[in-house]
Amino acid sequence: MQGPIGVFDSGYGGLTVFKEIQKQLPKYDYIYLGDNARVPYGIRSFETVYEYTKECVFKLFDLGCNLVILACNTASAKALRSIQQHDLPEGKKVLGVIRPTTESINEYTVNGKVGILATQGTVLSESYKIEINKFHPAIEVFQHPCPLWVPLVENNEIDSKAAHDIIEKDIQRLFSQSSEIDTIVLACTHYPLLLPVIKEYVPDYVTILSQGELVANKLIHYLERHPEVETQCSKNGTLIFYTTDDAKNFEANTTIFYGKQITASHISL
Ligand code: DGL
Repeated sequence: MQGPIGVFDSGYGGLTVFKEIQKQLPKYDYIYLGDNARVPYGIRSFETVYEYTKECVFKLFDLGCNLVILACNTASAKALRSIQQHDLPEGKKVLGVIRPTTESINEYTVNGKVGILATQGTVLSESYKIEINKFHPAIEVFQHPCPLWVPLVENNEIDSKAAHDIIEKDIQRLFSQSSEIDTIVLACTHYPLLLPVIKEYVPDYVTILSQGELVANKLIHYLERHPEVETQCSKNGTLIFYTTDDAKNFEANTTIFYGKQITASHISL
């Protein structure tokens, strides 16, 4: 039976990716699920992220989704492969955000030196390094974890003095690994919201990639290449938002990530 496309994130951040997916593929039905009750995932162990992500993905399957996108980098880094290899029921698919971001990275870097800014969990998983080198072995990848950036966004400190100090220091640390980096991937759902500040500390010639558009473009191509998945996606243009925490709170905080007001409901896992 046809069903909505499920979009999962540890909280609000995935809305930055979902916004682009919905913009580029408006005809489909969607269910967004944010696990706000257990955010952040970026500092948790492999096992915990895997268990939490699996529970949410199966909730989306129970709600009728046949295709689920992990809009969360940490979940994509730590749980996607295990779920794809061990847990998928017949006819269900799960995709992440790392592959769509890494497979065409060669189109952006000129000198083959790429910087990854991400959560501690994503950096430690080495997923970006592994995926980039699988597609493009000659590209050199430099990673730096930015554990304070998610709290900056969540606490609406986007343009504060603290944000400037923290971001400047993190960018310096990334470039201290190589001053030649010419492309930076913002490999965390929250980081695009810090872009205006990030740009102040990154040289002008560096390309800074946010994931929303890249992921949405790749999803269009994926659905074209996989009619067996596409035909299982219902198309009435409906949107449903669920959070594992308080719905009113979720509604109050989503505008900054999604760009417009939404209505959400609480869901228990
Ligand atoms: N959504 C997460 C990511 O993209 C960031 C927030 C968290 O740590 O849960 O890595």
